[in-house]
Amino acid sequence: MSIETAIEAAKEAGRLIRQRVETTKRVETKYTAHDLVTEVDRQAEEIIRQVLHRAHPDHAILGEEGVAPGPEASREALEAHRDYEHLWIVDPIDGTTNFVHGFPYFCVSIALARRGKVELGVIYDPMRDECFTAERGKGARLNGEPIRVSEENDLGMSLVATGFPADYKGARKINTAGLIRLSSRCRNIRTAGSAALHMAYVAAGRLTAFWELELNAWDLAAGSLLVEEAGGRVTDTRGTPYHIGVRHVLATNGRIHEAMLEELRAAEATGFEKQEG
Ligand code: IPD
Ligand code: CA
Ligand code: CA
Repeated sequence: MSIETAIEAAKEAGRLIRQRVETTKRVETKYTAHDLVTEVDRQAEEIIRQVLHRAHPDHAILGEEGVAPGPEASREALEAHRDYEHLWIVDPIDGTTNFVHGFPYFCVSIALARRGKVELGVIYDPMRDECFTAERGKGARLNGEPIRVSEENDLGMSLVATGFPADYKGARKINTAGLIRLSSRCRNIRTAGSAALHMAYVAAGRLTAFWELELNAWDLAAGSLLVEEAGGRVTDTRGTPYHIGVRHVLATNGRIHEAMLEELRAAEATGFEKQEG
């Protein structure tokens, strides 16, 4: 079990993604009209599966394109897999909408969980050739060099990112409430369109925090370990420590975590409000 295998898989998929970014793709919609997939997503996942399977034939793989669309199917697939001794969690292209439009902000995300606990994570940005890696207890790196979260102590000095889930009916409205409240309290907000890459940017100190609702294990698993190993904190939007079932995430440099939790609560934008009635 080595991080090199995950890096090899991510870079091999990344080569294909880079080659195809300016070519015509067949775009299909999945769960909603905002949830896109192309043949490149499927081919990239196949490449990753082959590399992982060759090195670890006895490990299980949970890949986005192997799961039926929509939150229910995602939850069920995760439940069916979460206690495996070795489970690879794969998002072949995180930021497919950007990929389709040629907006160069997307990545490959690969994590390995042992009995539900993330042990290694790789996020690869093929356009910048940036490979973010983390192994539990060994720190986080960017192209082999150690990285750390940023040092802002208050919201007013913080650059914060969020994203808009494909389920535009419920979560988008809630997220907009958070966006309105935080936009006047932070230095500024970014929504660049790849949850995994936003997480990697928190780990690298390029963003102070990131939150988003209704994400899946493959969007967050690798990034969660990167942020933690870079000295940051990852919880759900109510403050429960990260686990692979978290869908409403908050990742920060640690220093502004409580303030972010408080603002999301005050804006009724944690994503848990609808369940609470
Ligand atoms: C999406 C991206 C996007 C986020 C969506 C995700 P995909 O993943 O991470 O930034 O806002 O919620 O579904 O579909 O490009 O893999
Ligand atoms: Ca994704
Ligand atoms: Ca994807």
